[in-house]
Amino acid sequence: MNKNRITELFGIKYPLIQAGMIWCSGWELASAVSNSGGLGIIGSGSMYPEILEEQIIKCKIATDKPFAVNLPMLYPDIDKHIQTIIKHKVPIVFTSAGNPKTWTSSLKSHGIKVVHVVSSLKFAGVDAVVAEGFEAGGHNGRDETTTFCLIPIVAKEISIPLIAAGGIGTGRGMLAAMNLGADAVQIGSRFIATPESSAHKNFKEMIINSNEGDTILTLKELTPVRLLKNPFFNKVEEVYKNGGNIEDLKNTLGRGRAKKGMFEGDLIEGELEVGQIAGLIDQILPAHKVVEEIINEFYQAKSEQNSAKYLFE
Ligand SMILES: Cc1cc2nc3c(=O)[nH]c(=O)nc-3n(C[C@H](O)[C@H](O)[C@H](O)COP(=O)(O)O)c2cc1C
Repeated sequence: MNKNRITELFGIKYPLIQAGMIWCSGWELASAVSNSGGLGIIGSGSMYPEILEEQIIKCKIATDKPFAVNLPMLYPDIDKHIQTIIKHKVPIVFTSAGNPKTWTSSLKSHGIKVVHVVSSLKFAGVDAVVAEGFEAGGHNGRDETTTFCLIPIVAKEISIPLIAAGGIGTGRGMLAAMNLGADAVQIGSRFIATPESSAHKNFKEMIINSNEGDTILTLKELTPVRLLKNPFFNKVEEVYKNGGNIEDLKNTLGRGRAKKGMFEGDLIEGELEVGQIAGLIDQILPAHKVVEEIINEFYQAKSEQNSAKYLFE
């Protein structure tokens, strides 16, 4: 079998990674994607340590394929998460939101592959990087660099494997990202619209009914986040219009908004994190179908690269 750098590094079939997402990606989604030939990731950022342990155990029962855990560096109980990951021999960790330096050597000394998520040209001594553009759902960089620009810029500067994220949801998107210099893609939003995602069905339905222009990057003064424009977002807009400061934004955000929106399905008061690609997602499909559709479209698009459209001379 031909191997590319990412399939080789992770021991997977397709260079297609399902992103770790708070409230949306537990063991069911991660194991379904890993069983389909991609790499599934458990999003640990919304889990207490004992929940993460349970999720890892269930994932290992559901798949004998490699899977990963996403670890936001700002997580308060991070050392407990790290111990659980080491104890259960999770083969791969995707770190994000902060500098992974403190933990990289300890994880690597246990044979764990470490991948870090960046939104600009800043990274540390890891096995691979995910470069995530402005289009992406969830927390995002302040620099507003789009995937289309970020991937070739990062590809020019690094020699380690590069994973593109942000705005990719189809096989054509995957091929485009790889043509720009990525070795693999990480897809988040598209995998929320699956029965295996732990997101609330109200949120999934809002995603499949959303259109281009329905998401926005906001709350830059706190942690920039891309979300659907809903009544909660309108409240944030009011704060900006009235010249509110950081404290006003913090008070409006309050606590538990993401859980309320994405997990409990409160479309009015909740925070609904999703990327621009939501405008293209129009049905809820099982995770293995999503993988299959993306890979089939990827090969179809690749075969079309000899078509008349590309032969202009
Ligand atoms: C609902 C949601 C939650 C997310 N949570 C996390 C997270 O906990 N940690 C993280 O590194 N990235 C998180 N992300 C970003 C994804 O890992 C991924 O990079 C992004 O979704 C890719 O862009 P896309 O949504 O356009 O596919 C989240 C994204 C979404 C949509």
